[in-house]
Amino acid sequence: MATKTSTGKQTAKSTNAAAGTAKSATQMTKQPNKTGIKDSALEDFFADELKDIYWAEKHLVKTLPKMSKAATSAELKQAFTDHLQTTKGHVERLERVFEMLGKKPQAKKCDAMEGITKEGEGIIEDTEAGTATRDVGLILAGQKVEHYEISTYGGLQQLARTLGKDDIADVLAQTLAEEKEADQLLTGVAENGVNYQSAEEEA
Ligand SMILES: [Fe+2]
Ligand SMILES: [Fe+2]
Repeated sequence: MATKTSTGKQTAKSTNAAAGTAKSATQMTKQPNKTGIKDSALEDFFADELKDIYWAEKHLVKTLPKMSKAATSAELKQAFTDHLQTTKGHVERLERVFEMLGKKPQAKKCDAMEGITKEGEGIIEDTEAGTATRDVGLILAGQKVEHYEISTYGGLQQLARTLGKDDIADVLAQTLAEEKEADQLLTGVAENGVNYQSAEEEA
């Protein structure tokens, strides 16, 4: 019985592979392209993910000024303004990456980033201007943005190395380091008093 089951499983597996229907992540990463072969499924996937984060960064260029304007503490306002400049650099860096791939920069709507920034706008609506509570909410929203970016750039950097594109991986690593820095900076602003001040505020 055990042999029969095992044989049955093997047959099913090889049939799926031969049909080539499901492009699971496992299948895509099973045969890493380190030979410069173009148009692999993994390379297409990589380019698609670049379009996604390109849209997200461009969207953040529009969102960060709103966050800075809504912030109460001068320190938090400055943190968002500084990160706006950094984010403009991220857009340009991605344009360079598209160029290195021999592709035109193209943006594809990132539903996740749209959702995270919408949540941030909701926090602005739900909190009172000039309060530390609003700042706490903005820091939280900002950190959600940075964490999305950190996971995306971390994954893309690794993917670029798998594809044998170390030059692109190095460019993405620069942005990754700046996203981590921004996240730590926001933690610092929270620890420096915003959280404490907000705990003192009346409901
Ligand atoms: Fe960014
Ligand atoms: Fe960022």
